[in-house]
Amino acid sequence: MHPPILEIEGLSKQFQLHDQNALIPSCARVDLAVHSGELTALVGPTGAGKSSVLKAIYRTYLPSSGRILYRDANGAITDLALASEHRMLELRRQDLGFVTQFLHCLPRKSAMEVVAEPLAMRGTSRELAAERACELLDLLNVPERLWRVPPATFSGGEKQRVNLARGLIARPRLLLLDEPTASLDPATTDRVVDLLNAIKAEGVGMLAIFHQPQLVERLADRVVTLSSPVAASALLEETTP
Ligand SMILES: Nc1ncnc2c1ncn2[C@@H]1O[C@H](COP(=O)(O)OP(=O)(O)OP(=O)(O)O)[C@@H](O)[C@H]1O
Ligand SMILES: [Mg+2]
Repeated sequence: MHPPILEIEGLSKQFQLHDQNALIPSCARVDLAVHSGELTALVGPTGAGKSSVLKAIYRTYLPSSGRILYRDANGAITDLALASEHRMLELRRQDLGFVTQFLHCLPRKSAMEVVAEPLAMRGTSRELAAERACELLDLLNVPERLWRVPPATFSGGEKQRVNLARGLIARPRLLLLDEPTASLDPATTDRVVDLLNAIKAEGVGMLAIFHQPQLVERLADRVVTLSSPVAASALLEETTP
């Protein structure tokens, strides 16, 4: 068996709120692995720190402790908890994809350009990237009349589809998905499941949070359950002599 492309050991994150003089735990002692061509699902109650784990991998959040070992195409291992900003930018451009729940809109770009951008950034010609973008927008049931319009005024569901198309157009080595189907109808959700399975078959490794347990069943090769960090730290106190 190939070694995992991502291995997380003992990841914890706390936020120090100076104004309130409080320490807020966001995830505690998380261990997990992601393999190429497989999907690891992160499950657990609200507030357990699922989104925080994805943000720590993408380094939106700097972990408080633990290791996030990423293995690149050359087999070199980078601890994302310690990597330089430069290395993080390089990995985000080439290796990591992140589909967050919300589209951060770029004001004047059309939906098609927003979707095509990650592919164009990786060197695909503008024409081909635009063609792929249209195919994906079509697959995700975004009406054609919207393709040339900036998504700023789109409905929540339409924005999410554009966001998802943008996240799925390129083939990163490691794809992070935070509730990517949360506001989709069942027919579109089915298409996304097929698409994710196809992307998996191409060898992409995924770490995903899903709203519906049945999606975990349909897509996950491994399941990692997080308990709320407060419960985890209480447990730690109990078991520490
Ligand atoms: N930037 C932040 N500042 C302070 N606290 C934060 C921050 N980000 C997350 N937290 C706290 O960390 C905890 C875990 O949040 P997180 O968003 O990771 O949970 P989640 O498991 O994704 O929950 P949900 O299922 O509701 O999306 C929450 O209690 C949250 O308030
Ligand atoms: Mg979340």
